[in-house]
Amino acid sequence: KRIIEDVQLRGKRVIIRADYNVPLDDSLQITDDTRIRSTLPTINRAVDEGAKVILCSHLGRPKGKFDPKFSLAPVAKRLQRLLGKEVIFAPDCIGAAVEGLVAKMQPGDVMLLENLRFHPEEEKNDDGFSKALASLADVYINDAFGAAHRAHASTVGITKYIPEAAAGYLLKKEIEYLEGAVENPVRPFVAILGGAKVSGKIGVIENLGKKVDKVIIGGGMAFTFLKAMGLEIGQSLVENDMLDFAKGVQDHAFSSGVKFYLPVDCVVAASREPGAETKIVPVQEIPKGWYGLDIGPASVKLFSEAVQDAKTILWNGPMGMFEVDAFARGTLAMAHSVANAYALTIVGGGETALAIHRAGESESISFISTGGGAALELLEGKTLPGLAALPNRSA
Ligand code: 3PG
Repeated sequence: KRIIEDVQLRGKRVIIRADYNVPLDDSLQITDDTRIRSTLPTINRAVDEGAKVILCSHLGRPKGKFDPKFSLAPVAKRLQRLLGKEVIFAPDCIGAAVEGLVAKMQPGDVMLLENLRFHPEEEKNDDGFSKALASLADVYINDAFGAAHRAHASTVGITKYIPEAAAGYLLKKEIEYLEGAVENPVRPFVAILGGAKVSGKIGVIENLGKKVDKVIIGGGMAFTFLKAMGLEIGQSLVENDMLDFAKGVQDHAFSSGVKFYLPVDCVVAASREPGAETKIVPVQEIPKGWYGLDIGPASVKLFSEAVQDAKTILWNGPMGMFEVDAFARGTLAMAHSVANAYALTIVGGGETALAIHRAGESESISFISTGGGAALELLEGKTLPGLAALPNRSA
């Protein structure tokens, strides 16, 4: 794909689609600005080139109309601090008022448009809306990896009206790391998959299952695999309609030589209430009525040994209910093991990224993806519409 360095930005109006869908607390303070920081290289390039920089993004899921809870105003403020220069905040993303503001911009100026999803046409990939957005700029840069799996006006439709388009640095980096790991991994290649549900990871398991040397399964979804082996799992999370799938995955791993690891012990709790009694048991001894909520120390040891010789590790999904301290140990211990491995380490998905931050290991991971759903779809081997819409390098 064409990248930002392939296009002339000097003096041009450049619209950059970012994914500023950041978490906010009740008083609308940003609790994690990674997604904002990650776009700074692209913005700085455009500013240095003397472009008029117009940023746009969605935030949350407002229902196609203005809602102050989903305003990008806090993002404009944070961006201003991170860039160390003024960020003009436009009250809307299309229309006469915005056009007026853009007309007054000088080379090097930076503007952030208000939430694209305040217009229902954005998610409908509406032609008129795409055109209105496109009319603001001469060049389109997509740096919104987190939204690349959405075929919306600002990620797809707009490219019809601005032929001068390219990927920004973040989008490029995400694709290089994630696609590189999946398509061309240095082996041994180990995938660690966790999270609550098997059903959300079917595509990833199927696609990665064909490419990895080892797969490690933890988190809530491990219990479906354990049950498929005939074990008693108490009150642990289970998807009964996924039992056959889970069985099939294990059979396939055995027959294809992929090494398959499940937890051998787990932390169980008598109830899901905070402060409930907990104990560590082998997976063969989960008491009826108890809840398995984290992997145990023997599993941590087993999994950590399994990643020892890895040259590429891809991790998606926590090992347990790590938002509760009592069930965070397995996930945090795996964060340390992954961080200490002599491997290219790639982490995808918001929850796993959070676990890495909490373990204080962000600096020791080769690449932490800013995408949730987008990263999953890429790992499933799907084409991302936002990426597909960009012109090829030779074009
Ligand atoms: C994300 O956070 O995964 C992206 O910003 C996409 O958001 P969406 O799921 O609301 O489209």
